[in-house]
Amino acid sequence: MSVAKLTVRNLSKRFHHPPVQALQGVSFQVEDGDFVCIIGPSGCGKSTTLRLIAGFEHPTEGEVLLDGERVTEPGPDRAMVFQDLNQLFPWKTTLKNVLYPLQINRLYKNEAERVATAKRYLRMVGLEENFDQAFPHQLSGGMKQRVAIARALALDPKVLLMDEPFGSVDAQTRTTLQQELLRIWEATQKTIIFVTHNIEEAIILGTRIIVFGTNPGRILEIFDNPLSRPRLPSDPVFGEFWETLFALLKQ
Ligand SMILES: Nc1ncnc2c1ncn2[C@@H]1O[C@H](COP(=O)(O)OP(=O)(O)OP(=O)(O)O)[C@@H](O)[C@H]1O
Ligand SMILES: [Mg+2]
Repeated sequence: MSVAKLTVRNLSKRFHHPPVQALQGVSFQVEDGDFVCIIGPSGCGKSTTLRLIAGFEHPTEGEVLLDGERVTEPGPDRAMVFQDLNQLFPWKTTLKNVLYPLQINRLYKNEAERVATAKRYLRMVGLEENFDQAFPHQLSGGMKQRVAIARALALDPKVLLMDEPFGSVDAQTRTTLQQELLRIWEATQKTIIFVTHNIEEAIILGTRIIVFGTNPGRILEIFDNPLSRPRLPSDPVFGEFWETLFALLKQ
Protein backbone atom coordinates (compact mmCIF):
# COMPACT_ATOMS: atom_id res chain seq x y z
CA MET A 1 0.00 0.00 0.00
CA SER A 2 1.38 3.40 -0.90
CA VAL A 3 1.64 5.86 1.96
CA ALA A 4 0.74 9.50 1.27
CA LYS A 5 3.54 12.05 1.52
CA LEU A 6 1.43 14.11 3.87
CA THR A 7 -1.63 13.10 5.84
CA VAL A 8 -3.78 15.67 7.60
CA ARG A 9 -6.11 13.74 9.85
CA ASN A 10 -9.16 15.14 11.62
CA LEU A 11 -7.41 18.40 12.37
CA SER A 12 -9.16 20.84 14.69
CA LYS A 13 -7.84 24.07 16.11
CA ARG A 14 -9.54 26.17 18.70
CA PHE A 15 -8.11 29.53 19.74
CA HIS A 16 -9.08 30.90 23.14
CA HIS A 17 -8.24 34.61 22.90
CA PRO A 18 -10.65 35.47 21.36
CA PRO A 19 -12.50 32.13 21.34
CA VAL A 20 -12.81 30.81 17.79
CA GLN A 21 -13.04 27.39 16.20
CA ALA A 22 -10.54 28.06 13.44
CA LEU A 23 -10.64 24.49 12.09
CA GLN A 24 -12.87 21.51 12.62
CA GLY A 25 -12.36 17.97 11.38
CA VAL A 26 -10.06 18.80 8.48
CA SER A 27 -8.71 15.71 6.71
CA PHE A 28 -6.87 15.35 3.42
CA GLN A 29 -3.90 13.60 1.89
CA VAL A 30 -1.17 14.89 -0.35
CA GLU A 31 0.77 12.58 -2.64
CA ASP A 32 4.42 13.02 -3.53
CA GLY A 33 4.73 15.63 -6.29
CA ASP A 34 1.18 16.95 -5.86
CA PHE A 35 0.42 20.63 -6.26
CA VAL A 36 -2.50 21.18 -3.91
CA CYS A 37 -4.26 24.54 -3.81
CA ILE A 38 -6.40 25.61 -0.88
CA ILE A 39 -9.02 28.28 -1.47
CA GLY A 40 -11.67 29.72 0.80
CA PRO A 41 -12.99 32.95 2.28
CA SER A 42 -11.03 35.07 4.73
CA GLY A 43 -10.91 33.51 8.18
CA CYS A 44 -11.70 29.93 7.09
CA GLY A 45 -8.43 28.62 8.51
CA LYS A 46 -6.20 28.38 5.43
CA SER A 47 -3.17 29.92 7.14
CA THR A 48 -3.90 27.98 10.32
CA THR A 49 -3.82 24.75 8.31
CA LEU A 50 -0.41 25.64 6.84
CA ARG A 51 0.88 26.70 10.26
CA LEU A 52 -0.18 23.37 11.73
CA ILE A 53 1.56 21.48 8.92
CA ALA A 54 4.65 23.66 9.44
CA GLY A 55 4.56 22.85 13.15
CA PHE A 56 4.27 26.52 14.22
CA GLU A 57 1.03 25.64 16.04
CA HIS A 58 -0.23 22.50 17.76
CA PRO A 59 -3.64 21.09 16.87
CA THR A 60 -6.42 20.94 19.44
CA GLU A 61 -7.35 17.59 17.93
CA GLY A 62 -6.01 15.44 15.12
CA GLU A 63 -2.55 15.14 13.62
CA VAL A 64 -0.31 15.84 10.68
CA LEU A 65 1.88 13.02 9.37
CA LEU A 66 4.79 13.65 7.01
CA ASP A 67 6.19 10.45 5.48
CA GLY A 68 4.26 8.63 8.20
CA GLU A 69 5.85 10.61 11.05
CA ARG A 70 3.87 12.90 13.27
CA VAL A 71 4.70 16.60 13.01
CA THR A 72 5.43 18.09 16.43
CA GLU A 73 7.63 21.10 15.68
CA PRO A 74 8.93 23.21 12.80
CA GLY A 75 11.68 21.74 10.63
CA PRO A 76 13.56 22.41 7.40
CA ASP A 77 11.63 19.58 5.71
CA ARG A 78 8.65 21.98 5.60
CA ALA A 79 9.55 25.38 4.17
CA MET A 80 7.07 28.23 4.10
CA VAL A 81 6.74 31.20 1.78
CA PHE A 82 4.47 34.00 3.01
CA GLN A 83 2.51 36.79 1.34
CA ASP A 84 4.47 39.46 3.21
CA LEU A 85 6.99 41.27 1.02
CA ASN A 86 9.05 41.87 4.17
CA GLN A 87 9.80 38.23 4.95
CA LEU A 88 13.48 38.54 3.98
CA PHE A 89 16.13 39.56 6.50
CA PRO A 90 16.52 43.26 5.62
CA TRP A 91 20.12 43.40 6.82
CA LYS A 92 21.28 40.47 4.71
CA THR A 93 22.04 40.43 1.00
CA THR A 94 19.97 38.31 -1.39
CA LEU A 95 22.60 35.58 -1.38
CA LYS A 96 22.92 35.59 2.41
CA ASN A 97 19.16 35.42 2.82
CA VAL A 98 19.16 32.13 0.95
CA LEU A 99 22.40 30.92 2.53
CA TYR A 100 21.50 31.56 6.18
CA PRO A 101 18.90 28.78 6.69
CA LEU A 102 21.29 26.33 5.03
CA GLN A 103 24.00 27.35 7.51
CA ILE A 104 21.90 27.18 10.66
CA ASN A 105 20.47 23.81 9.62
CA ARG A 106 23.96 22.61 8.62
CA LEU A 107 22.71 21.39 5.27
CA TYR A 108 25.00 20.25 2.47
CA LYS A 109 28.62 19.16 2.91
CA ASN A 110 30.41 22.43 3.42
CA GLU A 111 30.18 26.18 2.96
CA ALA A 112 31.27 26.06 -0.69
CA GLU A 113 28.44 23.67 -1.45
CA ARG A 114 25.95 25.84 0.45
CA VAL A 115 26.97 28.90 -1.53
CA ALA A 116 26.75 26.98 -4.80
CA THR A 117 23.29 25.70 -3.81
CA ALA A 118 22.04 29.16 -2.86
CA LYS A 119 23.26 30.55 -6.17
CA ARG A 120 21.73 27.65 -8.10
CA TYR A 121 18.28 28.30 -6.61
CA LEU A 122 18.55 32.06 -7.12
CA ARG A 123 19.23 31.38 -10.80
CA MET A 124 16.36 28.86 -10.87
CA VAL A 125 13.87 31.50 -9.71
CA GLY A 126 15.21 33.89 -12.34
CA LEU A 127 17.29 36.27 -10.23
CA GLU A 128 20.37 37.44 -12.04
CA GLU A 129 23.81 37.15 -10.48
CA ASN A 130 24.32 40.90 -10.20
CA PHE A 131 21.54 40.96 -7.57
CA ASP A 132 23.28 38.45 -5.26
CA GLN A 133 24.84 41.28 -3.26
CA ALA A 134 21.73 43.50 -3.29
CA PHE A 135 19.72 44.07 -0.12
CA PRO A 136 15.95 43.47 0.02
CA HIS A 137 15.16 47.19 -0.10
CA GLN A 138 16.86 47.29 -3.50
CA LEU A 139 14.52 44.66 -4.96
CA SER A 140 11.03 44.91 -6.43
CA GLY A 141 8.17 43.06 -4.74
CA GLY A 142 8.26 40.31 -7.33
CA MET A 143 12.02 39.91 -6.92
CA LYS A 144 11.66 39.67 -3.14
CA GLN A 145 9.15 36.85 -3.57
CA ARG A 146 11.54 35.10 -5.95
CA VAL A 147 14.24 35.25 -3.26
CA ALA A 148 11.80 33.93 -0.65
CA ILE A 149 10.95 31.03 -2.95
CA ALA A 150 14.65 30.34 -3.62
CA ARG A 151 15.30 30.38 0.14
CA ALA A 152 12.55 27.82 0.72
CA LEU A 153 13.56 25.59 -2.21
CA ALA A 154 17.24 25.58 -1.24
CA LEU A 155 16.27 23.67 1.92
CA ASP A 156 15.08 20.91 -0.41
CA PRO A 157 11.97 20.53 1.76
CA LYS A 158 9.69 17.51 1.55
CA VAL A 159 6.78 19.91 1.28
CA LEU A 160 6.79 23.52 0.15
CA LEU A 161 4.10 25.53 1.95
CA MET A 162 2.99 28.75 0.25
CA ASP A 163 0.56 31.14 1.93
CA GLU A 164 -0.74 33.55 -0.75
CA PRO A 165 2.85 34.13 -1.97
CA PHE A 166 1.68 36.25 -4.92
CA GLY A 167 -1.01 38.13 -3.02
CA SER A 168 1.01 41.34 -2.71
CA VAL A 169 2.35 41.75 -6.24
CA ASP A 170 0.67 43.34 -9.27
CA ALA A 171 -1.40 41.25 -11.68
CA GLN A 172 1.26 41.14 -14.39
CA THR A 173 3.98 40.00 -11.98
CA ARG A 174 1.58 37.49 -10.47
CA THR A 175 1.00 35.83 -13.85
CA THR A 176 4.76 35.67 -14.49
CA LEU A 177 5.47 34.20 -11.06
CA GLN A 178 2.73 31.59 -11.52
CA GLN A 179 4.35 30.41 -14.75
CA GLU A 180 7.81 30.40 -13.13
CA LEU A 181 6.51 28.39 -10.18
CA LEU A 182 4.95 25.83 -12.53
CA ARG A 183 8.24 25.51 -14.39
CA ILE A 184 10.12 24.99 -11.10
CA TRP A 185 7.53 22.51 -9.85
CA GLU A 186 7.87 20.49 -13.04
CA ALA A 187 11.68 20.61 -12.86
CA THR A 188 12.00 19.77 -9.15
CA GLN A 189 8.91 17.54 -8.69
CA LYS A 190 8.37 19.24 -5.32
CA THR A 191 5.23 18.63 -3.31
CA ILE A 192 3.47 21.98 -2.91
CA ILE A 193 0.56 23.20 -0.81
CA PHE A 194 -0.46 26.63 -2.02
CA VAL A 195 -3.05 28.88 -0.38
CA THR A 196 -4.78 31.53 -2.45
CA HIS A 197 -7.90 33.71 -2.45
CA ASN A 198 -7.89 33.64 -6.21
CA ILE A 199 -9.97 30.97 -7.97
CA GLU A 200 -8.21 31.50 -11.30
CA GLU A 201 -4.80 31.11 -9.68
CA ALA A 202 -5.89 27.85 -8.03
CA ILE A 203 -7.14 26.49 -11.37
CA ILE A 204 -3.95 27.48 -13.21
CA LEU A 205 -1.67 25.96 -10.59
CA GLY A 206 -3.31 23.10 -8.75
CA THR A 207 -3.47 19.41 -9.55
CA ARG A 208 -6.08 19.31 -6.81
CA ILE A 209 -8.12 22.10 -5.22
CA ILE A 210 -9.41 21.99 -1.66
CA VAL A 211 -12.27 24.39 -0.95
CA PHE A 212 -12.64 25.56 2.64
CA GLY A 213 -15.72 27.03 4.28
CA THR A 214 -15.90 29.18 7.36
CA ASN A 215 -17.44 29.14 10.87
CA PRO A 216 -16.00 26.73 11.71
CA GLY A 217 -13.14 26.42 9.23
CA ARG A 218 -13.66 23.14 7.41
CA ILE A 219 -13.35 21.43 4.05
CA LEU A 220 -16.38 21.84 1.80
CA GLU A 221 -15.08 19.82 -1.12
CA ILE A 222 -11.92 18.50 -2.79
CA PHE A 223 -11.61 18.60 -6.59
CA ASP A 224 -9.22 17.00 -9.05
CA ASN A 225 -8.37 19.65 -11.60
CA PRO A 226 -10.01 18.52 -14.87
CA LEU A 227 -7.80 20.69 -17.10
CA SER A 228 -4.63 19.62 -18.89
CA ARG A 229 -1.70 22.06 -19.11
CA PRO A 230 -1.25 24.75 -20.22
CA ARG A 231 -4.51 25.95 -18.74
CA LEU A 232 -6.15 28.74 -20.61
CA PRO A 233 -8.96 30.85 -19.10
CA SER A 234 -10.50 30.93 -22.60
CA ASP A 235 -11.09 27.15 -22.42
CA PRO A 236 -14.82 26.48 -21.71
CA VAL A 237 -13.88 23.77 -19.19
CA PHE A 238 -11.87 26.42 -17.31
CA GLY A 239 -14.95 28.64 -17.16
CA GLU A 240 -17.20 25.84 -15.96
CA PHE A 241 -14.74 24.80 -13.26
CA TRP A 242 -14.43 28.44 -12.18
CA GLU A 243 -18.22 28.73 -11.89
CA THR A 244 -18.39 25.54 -9.80
CA LEU A 245 -15.75 26.81 -7.38
CA PHE A 246 -17.27 30.29 -7.25
CA ALA A 247 -20.74 28.93 -6.44
CA LEU A 248 -19.27 26.84 -3.62
CA LEU A 249 -17.35 29.81 -2.18
CA LYS A 250 -20.46 32.01 -2.29
CA GLN A 251 -22.38 29.69 0.04
N1 LIG B 1 -3.10 33.16 17.00
C1 LIG B 1 -4.44 33.30 16.93
N2 LIG B 1 -5.16 33.60 18.02
C2 LIG B 1 -6.50 33.72 17.96
N3 LIG B 1 -7.23 33.54 16.84
C3 LIG B 1 -6.56 33.23 15.71
C4 LIG B 1 -5.13 33.09 15.68
N4 LIG B 1 -4.76 32.79 14.42
C5 LIG B 1 -5.88 32.74 13.70
N5 LIG B 1 -6.97 33.00 14.47
C6 LIG B 1 -8.37 32.98 14.02
O1 LIG B 1 -8.60 31.75 13.35
C7 LIG B 1 -9.45 31.95 12.23
C8 LIG B 1 -8.73 31.45 10.98
O2 LIG B 1 -7.64 32.30 10.72
P1 LIG B 1 -6.66 32.07 9.47
O3 LIG B 1 -5.62 33.11 9.55
O4 LIG B 1 -6.23 30.66 9.44
O5 LIG B 1 -7.66 32.35 8.26
P2 LIG B 1 -7.34 32.46 6.69
O6 LIG B 1 -8.24 31.51 6.00
O7 LIG B 1 -5.88 32.30 6.47
O8 LIG B 1 -7.79 33.94 6.37
P3 LIG B 1 -7.18 35.01 5.30
O9 LIG B 1 -7.71 34.58 3.97
O10 LIG B 1 -7.77 36.31 5.73
O11 LIG B 1 -5.70 34.96 5.40
C9 LIG B 1 -9.79 33.42 12.20
O12 LIG B 1 -11.03 33.60 12.83
C10 LIG B 1 -8.69 34.05 13.03
O13 LIG B 1 -9.15 35.21 13.68
MG1 LIG C 1 -4.39 33.54 5.72
